[in-house]
Amino acid sequence: MDLAALNAIAEKMVAPGKGILAADESSGTIKKRFDAIGVESTEENRRDYREFMFRSDAMKNHISGVILYDETIWQDAADGTPLVELINSAGSIPGIKVDEGVQPLPYFPGETITVGLDKLAARLAKYYERGARFAKWRAVIDIAEGVPTAGAVKANAHALARYAALCQQAGIVPIVEPEVLMDGAHDIERCDEVTRFVLNAVFQELFEQRVPLEGIVLKPNMVICGKGCSKRASVEEVAVRTIAALKATVPSAVPGIAYLSGGQSDQEATAHLDAMNRIGGFPWKMTFSYGRALQAAPQKAWAGKTENVSAAQRAFCHRARMNSLACLGQWEGAHEKAA
Ligand code: 13P
Repeated sequence: MDLAALNAIAEKMVAPGKGILAADESSGTIKKRFDAIGVESTEENRRDYREFMFRSDAMKNHISGVILYDETIWQDAADGTPLVELINSAGSIPGIKVDEGVQPLPYFPGETITVGLDKLAARLAKYYERGARFAKWRAVIDIAEGVPTAGAVKANAHALARYAALCQQAGIVPIVEPEVLMDGAHDIERCDEVTRFVLNAVFQELFEQRVPLEGIVLKPNMVICGKGCSKRASVEEVAVRTIAALKATVPSAVPGIAYLSGGQSDQEATAHLDAMNRIGGFPWKMTFSYGRALQAAPQKAWAGKTENVSAAQRAFCHRARMNSLACLGQWEGAHEKAA
């Protein structure tokens, strides 16, 4: 295991002013997104959509890496160029989602465990050969009455740590993603408490599995109110609480934090990231690894029509540029209007 090489990749993933495009929707999830814009989810449509995203100018300027789904990493563009080559030639890094989703955790009603560790070493070797230099594994932690439990959090943290070690052995930087969901009516205090509990558990397991933190990227949720909570928190409160929770739980050896958007609106996700970077005073780079918050606008602009591709690329470039400014703490509402 070459830690200096892993660290160099991790640093590139969180380079100032750049962030990650999470384009790793499973076939089921991308079908939902396509249904919403009236596009049939065929293999060709999925390829065409991702191809125009990867060919857009945003890639060169704002996107340090792209998380792909298994189908996509093996796909070629319409002209026969592998999609991973499009990403590489834009100076961005191809990554791969390697978890195989969640299953109910026996004896823990309402809680899940992320699966996919069996045969992971062999799969990682194939992904490396195809060009992947980082990976993603998402643990899902729900907040509800009596949930999460310590047992389920520990099981998920352990799986994340086993995955991270296997990635590093394969020369691949693991994105460690413990997502505390926004679903539910819980308030921001409860999200704060659960996020701290989960991050503590994750770093304990990473330590026990001997994973050097210089060779990972953390992808956490922000500390934020549940979607159904009546008391909304300000942008400032989300930023202050998120920074405080991370400072209390995440060692400074971690090169960077790349947040998920988790169901926030595009502009909320940008505003929160910007507010954190304006406050500063933390040891990590803080950037984005957004799925929905980067793709909602281009998907809507595209609507499956070839004649809309350049408008969709412009919508993607705009969102990517806004988030790029947020990484630097330089985003302003006026930038949105100017576009
Ligand atoms: P969202 O930004 O849509 O939450 O997706 C990011 C991601 O990769 C979740 O695993």
